[in-house]
Amino acid sequence: MSLDRLRARARDFTAAPGSLTTRDFHPNVESTRAVQAPSAKRVGEFYDRNGRVLTDIFAGSMHLGYWLGPDDDSDLKAATERLTEIMIIKLRAGAGDTVLDLGCGTGKPAVRLARTTGARVVGISVSTEDVAQATALAQAEGVADLVDFRVADAMDLPFEAGSFDAVLALGSIPHILDRTHVLKQVAQVLRPGGRLALTDAIKRGNEVDEMAVAILNEVLDAWRQASPVRASDYRRFGREAGLVIDEITDITEHTKYTYRKIYAEMDAYGELPPDMVRIHDHGEGVDWVEVENGPQPDGMMIAVAHRP
Ligand SMILES: C[S@@+](CC[C@H](N)C(=O)[O-])C[C@H]1O[C@@H](n2cnc3c(N)ncnc32)[C@H](O)[C@@H]1O
Repeated sequence: MSLDRLRARARDFTAAPGSLTTRDFHPNVESTRAVQAPSAKRVGEFYDRNGRVLTDIFAGSMHLGYWLGPDDDSDLKAATERLTEIMIIKLRAGAGDTVLDLGCGTGKPAVRLARTTGARVVGISVSTEDVAQATALAQAEGVADLVDFRVADAMDLPFEAGSFDAVLALGSIPHILDRTHVLKQVAQVLRPGGRLALTDAIKRGNEVDEMAVAILNEVLDAWRQASPVRASDYRRFGREAGLVIDEITDITEHTKYTYRKIYAEMDAYGELPPDMVRIHDHGEGVDWVEVENGPQPDGMMIAVAHRP
């Protein structure tokens, strides 16, 4: 898609009746960025349609991965496995523990978590296709006795209070606008002392340009994501949810290389489904190396928390 067409689409998007602003949800958030608040149904249908292709493109998982720096020539498989491993280490789960994988995708992180730690894992997704593929993966990898996947909404968790030792949320929170609510749900199902490790999309710069905001919102809508938050907002989200935040780390400098790689994968993929064509079109003509070398107005963070 040309920049002009993207601008035109962004204009339509901004003008959409009933479009909400962040203030409608979080009066304290200092942003007037218009947001899409994708429903669990829309997110689930997106992954039903695209989970398989996304898993191919991201080389097995569906998250951004982690690069060590500009000279790191890892492929997507190595980079995504590295971020999964980082998150597993932060969770500190072990044999005998029960871990909730909140937003499990097609199951690769949960399978790795079970295999490397011996913990039991319950993975949830709002996509029935995700759950079917994740279940097949656990069987194929011989860990079906440790891993169980089911369809459930993170905003309304169907588990008893205190039933998990740890919760992993790798790439799922960016789909949820009300971070405080999802963290409250997590706090409810964690036992006292239980840990949470998550990644989330963050806003780092200030968009003064209305068009930049509209374009970003079009991109977020294509991915069925909600508006990013500021990393520092997590102190408040934790407080409101009854969790103690132990760590907030901005990892943007380690994830910014992903886009160049996934656009190359999409170019090589052959026929992409319509949702992926829309995403691919946003990157048409973009010089990714220039983007990597420029300021990063948006990015990615890790947060670690525990229930006191
Ligand atoms: C970017 S994918 C990440 C998948 C997986 N964690 C991985 O890293 O490969 C996001 C996942 O979060 C799930 N998700 C998004 N919103 C959710 C919600 N409200 N409840 C449960 N799962 C959700 C999606 O269905 C999808 O499986």
